[in-house]
Amino acid sequence: MSDEPNTQLLEVRDMYAGYLDFDILRGVNLEVHPGEIVCVIGPNGAGKSTVFRAVYGLISVRKGSVIFDGADITNSTPQDVLRAGIAIVPQLRSVFPQMTVLENLEMGLYLERDRDRIQERIEVVFGLFPRLRDRAKQRIGTMSGGEQRMLEIGRALLLEPKLIMMDEPSAGLAPSITKMIFGHIERLNAEIGLTVLMIEQNARQGLEASHRGYVLELGQNTYEGTGQELIDNPEVRRAFLGGR
Ligand SMILES: Nc1ncnc2c1ncn2[C@@H]1O[C@H](COP(=O)(O)OP(=O)(O)O)[C@@H](O)[C@H]1O
Ligand SMILES: [Mg+2]
Repeated sequence: MSDEPNTQLLEVRDMYAGYLDFDILRGVNLEVHPGEIVCVIGPNGAGKSTVFRAVYGLISVRKGSVIFDGADITNSTPQDVLRAGIAIVPQLRSVFPQMTVLENLEMGLYLERDRDRIQERIEVVFGLFPRLRDRAKQRIGTMSGGEQRMLEIGRALLLEPKLIMMDEPSAGLAPSITKMIFGHIERLNAEIGLTVLMIEQNARQGLEASHRGYVLELGQNTYEGTGQELIDNPEVRRAFLGGR
């Protein structure tokens, strides 16, 4: 935790949220500083995706607050959260398999009317992911899982977010492809200062790629520290990293 005030880009304070009348999250606290990669790990059903949904205004925050870039965005609509500068790469894969890479990217900018601006931003994404440029006319359904994930990340980057939230970017990917995706995340962080909050089931690799991490269990965060501190913590290792 930082002692300095106002250095956070995102701050979730004492958040309570859930479904119907039931609170899944019961006092979640986390923060992300500009330029950081932060990883949230924890067992299935702990509420990790629920934190993202609550930040994004997809479910309501019943208690606590979400502060982003100095503004209180608690219970904003997803569109307002996006406008504030947060883009999300959801857990359920979100590309359109019948459409080409280029069409998917254009869909990502459906709110933008200025053709030149669309062109310019797609060029920036192609610059960051040359592989996507090579595949511009290819239908998504014929591409590998790793390429589809690149496209999802690229599409989120079109929106020039201050923060990108990724829910299990490595889900469903082979180990070597997972490594490649984390490599891209670290590269974007280093090259363009992209700030990332990600959820990972692949806890060890996720933490290795991150500056800091949190463990979420039963709707509360139980451990936090640098990626290395969490990897070295005996209890975290035993419970979540399959190690001793
Ligand atoms: N749409 C929903 N309606 C009711 N309960 C849900 C819904 N989505 C998730 N849950 C419940 O909330 C809990 C946390 O889910 P989730 O945030 O998806 O966990 P995680 O991402 O950590 O695996 C689980 O018990 C799950 O069954
Ligand atoms: Mg989840």
